[in-house]
Amino acid sequence: MRIFIDSANEKDITYLLRQGIVDGVTTNPTIMLKDGVHDLEGAARRLCALLGDRPVSVEVTSNEHEKMLEQARTFATWGRNIVVKIPVVNEFGDSSLDVINELTSEAIAVNATAILSFNQAVLATKAGATYVSIFAGRIADEGNDSTLVIRNVHTWLKEWEYSAKIIVGSMRTAIDIQNAALAGAHIVTVPPAFFAKMIDHKYTRDTVRQFNRDAERALQEIAAAQATWMPSSKGI
Ligand code: E4P
Repeated sequence: MRIFIDSANEKDITYLLRQGIVDGVTTNPTIMLKDGVHDLEGAARRLCALLGDRPVSVEVTSNEHEKMLEQARTFATWGRNIVVKIPVVNEFGDSSLDVINELTSEAIAVNATAILSFNQAVLATKAGATYVSIFAGRIADEGNDSTLVIRNVHTWLKEWEYSAKIIVGSMRTAIDIQNAALAGAHIVTVPPAFFAKMIDHKYTRDTVRQFNRDAERALQEIAAAQATWMPSSKGI
C-alpha cells in the first residue's frame, strides 16, 4: 500500500519525505486555502520538484468542461508528475466523465475525485481515470459504510483487471487509515497531523524510557565494578 500526504504544506511534506514514508501528494482547493497557497502554479511546481517522480494531484476549479480541460492541460505542463484531479460530477451533478476520458486520451493522468459510491468509482475507471479517490469520511458523514465501498471497488477492479488505483481520502480519525488499508485501498492519503497519531504511543515512550534508564544503571554498575577491580593498577 502507498501513502500519500493530503497537504500542500511544504515544510510538513519535507519532514515526512525524510521519514521515508511518502509515495505522493494530494491537494484540493480547500487544502490550498488552508495551507496559505495563493500562487497555485508556484506551489504546484515546488511540490512537483520536492516529490521527484512521485505523483502530485492538483484539482481543477471550474464547473465548465472546457475550462476544466484548459486548466488540466496547463497543470500538466507544471511537472511530469502532475496528476489532475477531476470531480466525477460538477456542483450541478453534470458528469465529468467526458473530461476524464479526453484527458486520458491525451496521456494526462487523472485522479477522479469526490467519489462517494461504488457506481461512481466504476464509471470513473471505465472513463480512464488512473486513480479513483474514495472519500471515506464523507461517506461515513452520510451514515454509510466506507469500507464496504472500498472493498467492493477493490474486488471489482481486480475481477475485471482494471489498472486504476483506489486512493482513500477524507480521513477523520486514525482508525480510518487502518480500515481503509484492510478494505483494499491501494493508497491512503493522510493529512500530516495524522503522522504523530500513527507513530507515537504512550506505552512505547514508557518502554523506551525504561530501557534507557536500565542501560544507564547497567553502565553505572559496570563503572562501579571496574572501580572495585581497579587495584589491578597496583599489579595482580
Ligand atoms: C483527497 O484527495 C481529498 O481531497 C481529501 O482527503 C478530502 O478530505 P475532506 O473530506 O476532509 O475534505
